[in-house]
Amino acid sequence: MGDSPLAILADLAVNGKTMTEPTTAPETDRTDMYRGEVDPRGEELVLVLDFGSQTAQLITRRVREQNVFCQMVRHDLSAERIRELNPKGLILSGGPASVYGDGAPQPDPAIFDLGIPILGICYGMQITCRSQGNTVIPSDSREFGRTDCATTSSDPLFEGLPAASTVWMSHGDQVEGLNTNFVSLAQTDTCPVAAVKHRERPLYGLQFHPEVTHTEYGGRLLANFVRTICGCRGTWKISSLIDREIETIRERVGSNRVICGLSGGVDSSVVAALLYRAIGDQLSCIFVDNGLLRKGERDEVEERFASHFKTDLHVVDAGDLFLNELAGVSDPQKKRKIIGRLFIDVFREEAKSIPDAHFLAQGTLYPDVIESGANPDGPAATIKSHHNVGGLPEELGFELIEPLRDLFKDEVRNMGLELGLPDNLIWRHPFPGPGLAVRCLGAITPPGLETLREADAILIEELHNAGLYRDIQQAFAVLLPVQSVGVMGDDRTYEDTIAIRAVQTDDFMTADWYHLPYEVLGRISTRITNSVRGVNRVVYDISSKPPSTIEWE
Ligand code: XMP
Repeated sequence: MGDSPLAILADLAVNGKTMTEPTTAPETDRTDMYRGEVDPRGEELVLVLDFGSQTAQLITRRVREQNVFCQMVRHDLSAERIRELNPKGLILSGGPASVYGDGAPQPDPAIFDLGIPILGICYGMQITCRSQGNTVIPSDSREFGRTDCATTSSDPLFEGLPAASTVWMSHGDQVEGLNTNFVSLAQTDTCPVAAVKHRERPLYGLQFHPEVTHTEYGGRLLANFVRTICGCRGTWKISSLIDREIETIRERVGSNRVICGLSGGVDSSVVAALLYRAIGDQLSCIFVDNGLLRKGERDEVEERFASHFKTDLHVVDAGDLFLNELAGVSDPQKKRKIIGRLFIDVFREEAKSIPDAHFLAQGTLYPDVIESGANPDGPAATIKSHHNVGGLPEELGFELIEPLRDLFKDEVRNMGLELGLPDNLIWRHPFPGPGLAVRCLGAITPPGLETLREADAILIEELHNAGLYRDIQQAFAVLLPVQSVGVMGDDRTYEDTIAIRAVQTDDFMTADWYHLPYEVLGRISTRITNSVRGVNRVVYDISSKPPSTIEWE
């Protein structure tokens, strides 16, 4: 979820984990593009050659921000195929390998003679420099983190940048001892060649990562490469991507039926909207009401659906089933397992009532793909598998359609806006699959869920009233399994406690507690204790992640 490659870098920086394990993963419908079956349809194209960096796809998204179509392809795509595709530029990504390692991934050496501008990033720079006779110094230790970088020669790549700025490093080996064909453009304290260019050929290298936001002027550097050095005009738009996806979906689906599981969130709604545009009433949607939804959520989904789609919606009322199986269960992971299993059972049963369905559409985003190491051909290392990945198992027997598989959350939001989905849906905070079950601590009871729903609705309403909802990435109430003493009128009470959680985060892997103004906190607390029965105390969670998590369970 979220912009996770950044988080992975952050994670690497914080925890010092290294990227060593190669990945194997199932085939997906996107591997043809990855293998070079790219169709730029007349658009300016930049290709990112994937050497396995966790941030390789992030480069493609930064290039798309320049309104240039960008596709990530295998690192060893042949120079001949690249020439046919006629890209305006090539970017060689970073990667976990050392250029000295056994089996270090290599590009086709002929790419350096194509005359196409090349930007090598980190490992990509080392491979580029080494191919041109420069020395790369091996290193046993890796350098992670922010560092100051000073430009040493002026060049269009650094146009508009100050002489010194902060960059994000994540490397072991580095280039040293340039030959006379090359000139160093920048340096840091530990890295004498932090940026480099060939004197005559359009070959550039950056030892640091311009694609991550920790590199202060990374966006400008990539823009300079794409616009000035590659000469792109930047005419591509997110609507071109929508058109492309619609066409692809139509071709694949033919006259078959597609099932789409709706969760009420942004990703599945955008998938449904795309499919509806592509195949109209060949789309059937399934929404499972597991009894763990927020206040009014089911009605909202139904109303929104009715106003946007004139097609088949199956709302499965499975609340009792879920709550019965969850009764008395207090272990969070057990709750998750039960919910996951029941969801699959319920979904499978409902899908049987849609007899001619052949495809299942899912809102998998790129960060989910990279976190589960699911790039089939890629040299990327698997870092961690995250609990948002997964959902429905393969045994359901459908062919998968995952039209958001190459995209990041904000691109999906743009796509949703372009498809006409409402603002309040597009900017909705994420809501976990297990729903209120992981926010009702300990064993779940229907009255506890009701208390939590009411408190949560007040919180969200007050955040909207204060104009803060969009500034916070996730906010919710938690019902604690703790009673405490209070006083109401002349009576002593012994009632429940609600905790309020609100976080700011780029990626949901690290997060800071949101500094809510006291007045807003005061209003939330007063309203909850005045109007939610059985609650006499409200507390605010001021923990960051790490060491806490965002959810309490
Ligand atoms: P944590 O609690 O790990 O949460 O800091 C990070 C993000 O993941 C969401 N989350 C989940 N999402 N199933 C989901 O679909 C889960 O079991 C789950 N647990 C946490 C959480 O809401 C936050 O956005």
